[in-house]
Amino acid sequence: FQETVIAPSILSANFARLGEEVDNVLAAGADWVHFDVMDNHYVPNLTIGPLVCEALRKHGVTAPIDVHLMVEPVDGLIPMFADAGASHISFHPEASKHVHRSVQLIKSKGCQAGLVFNPASSLDVLDTMLDEIDYVLLMSVNPGFGGQSFIPSALKQLRKVRAMIDASGRPIRLEIDGGVKPDNIGEIAKAGADTFVAGSAIFGKPDYAAVIAQMKQAVSA
Ligand code: DX5
Ligand code: ZN
Repeated sequence: FQETVIAPSILSANFARLGEEVDNVLAAGADWVHFDVMDNHYVPNLTIGPLVCEALRKHGVTAPIDVHLMVEPVDGLIPMFADAGASHISFHPEASKHVHRSVQLIKSKGCQAGLVFNPASSLDVLDTMLDEIDYVLLMSVNPGFGGQSFIPSALKQLRKVRAMIDASGRPIRLEIDGGVKPDNIGEIAKAGADTFVAGSAIFGKPDYAAVIAQMKQAVSA
């Protein structure tokens, strides 16, 4: 179990030279690539699909690709992303009619399965799904756009989920997504996160390595 994972969201990368951006951010110390999929239905924005994931693999990316599905429905895209090289696939439970089935589908394709919760979502489904999943992704912004501000109530959600994971005794990762910056990541880590998505904070700065080092240092402080 890797203690701290930094997962830059390529949503804030320069898409005109995506392969190079991903190479650079991984060389700068990033652990995973966070891949935001939006469908203009579950969220009011439209991004990238399995072809882009496959293109990154063909380009030579070997790091985990953490696919965050903000789509509805989810089941059709799960096998497509698995075949395109995703290592992790998460979805929002309200976007699937049969959450357990969708999680099993992810696992049957050999990927790690995650459930995503919006800032105002109830965590009830975790009671029954905690034994099935590999990670929880907590949103600290409303999904759909990069560059938004961290919603403080997400800290309370983090503490709740951290307690549930600890009580389960299972090696479930707790990932946080939205508005994570070097100056709040320490507090976020203390609330229980071990996996940190950051888009604008990393790709918005010229020196990716400096930001990632600052983040890792703040987490371990
Ligand atoms: C929002 C996405 C996030 C977002 C993070 O819907 O899930 O991954 O791009 O971007 P920042 O770090 O800029 O808030
Ligand atoms: Zn995301």
